[in-house]
Amino acid sequence: MSLRTQSSLDVNEDDLEQISSESTKLVFEYLTTISERSVRAENHAGKTLAAIDTELSPDGRSIEQLIDECRTVMDLSRHNGHPRFFGYVASPSTPVGAYADLIASALNSNITCWRSGSAGTELERLVVRWLGALIGYDRDAKGLLTSGGSMANMIALLIAHRRKSGVDTARAGLWNSGPPMTLYASEEVHLSIAKAADILGFGRDQVRVIACDERQRIRVDLLRQKIEADRREGLRPFCVVGSAGTVNTGVVDPLAELADVAAEFDLWFHVDGAYGAPGSLDERKKHLFAGLERADSVSLDPHKWLYVPVDAGCLLFHDADAARAPFSAEDADYIKTHGYADEEAFAFWDYGVELSRRFRALKVWMTLQYYGSRRIAAAISEDIALAAYLGELVSSADDFELLAPVELSICCFRYVASDADLDRLNERIMELVQKGGRAYLSNATVNGKFALRACITNFRTTKTDIEETIAAVREAAKKLDADERR
Ligand SMILES: Cc1ncc(COP(=O)(O)O)c(C=O)c1O
Repeated sequence: MSLRTQSSLDVNEDDLEQISSESTKLVFEYLTTISERSVRAENHAGKTLAAIDTELSPDGRSIEQLIDECRTVMDLSRHNGHPRFFGYVASPSTPVGAYADLIASALNSNITCWRSGSAGTELERLVVRWLGALIGYDRDAKGLLTSGGSMANMIALLIAHRRKSGVDTARAGLWNSGPPMTLYASEEVHLSIAKAADILGFGRDQVRVIACDERQRIRVDLLRQKIEADRREGLRPFCVVGSAGTVNTGVVDPLAELADVAAEFDLWFHVDGAYGAPGSLDERKKHLFAGLERADSVSLDPHKWLYVPVDAGCLLFHDADAARAPFSAEDADYIKTHGYADEEAFAFWDYGVELSRRFRALKVWMTLQYYGSRRIAAAISEDIALAAYLGELVSSADDFELLAPVELSICCFRYVASDADLDRLNERIMELVQKGGRAYLSNATVNGKFALRACITNFRTTKTDIEETIAAVREAAKKLDADERR
């Protein structure tokens, strides 16, 4: 084989122009039609693969064909950016955020450290400081962007454990590091905490689940009792996790009280604000987050309530030395930053699991700078107001019941009808609404009841969309009733 004398996979300028204009046209078409689409395509397993060419082409295919198939993939997707998509915690991406991801991919910087991705590293450290300042945590916050809240929570728990273990667990291993170390969180905490405890080898049983009050906030009295009981048993409490916006109902734990307990028992205090921390940008909600600044670490996902495209999570902390400890024990020769000192020797691999890392900061930076913090805060406040409006609509209607106070932007409610098994009825309503494509709600269990759950982290949603969602639920209930009578 002759040796290559010119680039093999580059394309000529005309072809490059075609790839970029066709791709941009498709994105433009998507973003300008998203609101008119059905929220969720009518779909079944295998439909996507049946609609595209599944043979791997040996000789390549034209960009026109591929863009056509991309359109099919888009058409067959669920549209999280639709104004009536309220499931889980999934926000639309802003247009500028989507294009920022394209720019980052074109540059293809690998943000392992300053040496390898100098501009990207500086930008990431800047946006981490911005995020810390935005939520009132720390104007000089340290941290890193992650794939999401689960990864941020897992890193936080490892840092916490290593900080408090008092043994060189990195060498000795957990099995050789003394009695079990326990952590504390409410029954409403996100599943990623127990999952991280499992992955990190602490064991799910070491996550002590604390009951909540009637508003789904952690019972601090029970927390204190459990920590004391565990200590008496010879266990070693090391961390308390507070939620700043629970995934089910969006409530914020009493963070200042948790900070007091953490200080009293010398525990690491982690706050999971993956969903809710940006809620602190709303002046009317700021008070809920008092005490956040005292957390040792905070998770916050720009890909949730800052409208940045997936993936962009973030872990913030005050103490960079504590955060480095579990990750920077030994550097292999091939990653040593020879000849660099101070800021230029900075490496993200010292703070997390990943070595190769996407240039996530660009889309966070572009989104925040394009709109400015005021407009982003306004969008968040509007989401909160719309969730409150939904809460008012369901509270004032005879055929609905509000199941939890609307604290941030999540509203949990159910349809009520006499003589009905309300759990089963609402489950079927949810399925019907989801399949119908007019709106999309997910579910939560609130005080043992099946709830329809709307999480509004969606800058496209308007008052009319909220009203239409209520109409879609009523329509589904009527249809079920009619089917029953038939
Ligand atoms: C409170 C909370 N924490 C953590 C997570 C996990 O985030 P991710 O899906 O980005 O891993 C979620 C996801 O919804 C969440 O709501």
